Amino acid sequence: LKRVRTRHFAQAKANGIKITGLTSYDTLTAQIFDEAGIDFLLVGDSAGNTVLGYDSTLPVTVDELIPLTRAVALSAKRAFVIADMPFGSYEEGPEHALRTAMRFMKETHAHAVKLEGGVRSADQIRRIVESGIPVMGHVGFTPQSEHGLGGHMIQGRGEAADRVFADAQAVEAAGAFAVVLEMIPAELAARITAELSIPTISVGAGAHTDGQLLVWTDFAGLNTGRVPKFVKQYAQLGAVLSEAATAFKADVESGAYPGPEHSYQDD
Ligand code: KIV
Ligand code: NA
Repeated sequence: LKRVRTRHFAQAKANGIKITGLTSYDTLTAQIFDEAGIDFLLVGDSAGNTVLGYDSTLPVTVDELIPLTRAVALSAKRAFVIADMPFGSYEEGPEHALRTAMRFMKETHAHAVKLEGGVRSADQIRRIVESGIPVMGHVGFTPQSEHGLGGHMIQGRGEAADRVFADAQAVEAAGAFAVVLEMIPAELAARITAELSIPTISVGAGAHTDGQLLVWTDFAGLNTGRVPKFVKQYAQLGAVLSEAATAFKADVESGAYPGPEHSYQDD
């Protein structure tokens, strides 16, 4: 059970083996996904929506993500664990970005960091990589800039393709070991994947990439809200838990729970 490392990402691309990732924010899901053989776990700032109760990733802080990231990194034996750098923790420049990356590496046991943006984040990526910390890039739709982008929208359609392409190339040139492509047309993702030497990881970017990543509460059907088109739900955990809670309440009210088998006797 050898730890997945950045060289395994490169080998997977070279050998045409797909890379699989899920987000995780806690010890129990980290253990389950790790034992299922998921290659990497991203402690995403999607925790803003899935854990912390915000309606976007914008309010999420480094201090909030550190304990979640540590829980995942301490729980995964094989998976490569990536700390997501939240909005406001790297934009001011390379030294700002390096300080944040250092905090994640020292305080969480994660193996790499991820940050959003291509051309605009290239100096930050380069500085972090130079200091020995692997960086995963993230281009296309970047949720931290949803207000600048005008909402949750597919990026890179038509003439905008060139900009996403240039962003992906900038991430590679800055030394990232992989890049997330979020919500772009499948054809554009295929072109980027063919052009880049680093692996591309799709989040709603179609099938022709080197790997796939999903937010775990989406893939497991735990979310109650609207599910994006690109998500495939592999379970209906929301319905399962709702039925369990309803049954528990009914059993408590009827006296069916606890039974003698759930009770301690005095001998
Ligand atoms: O925060 C997150 O979960 C992410 C992925 C959706 C790419 O950044
Ligand atoms: Na994120």
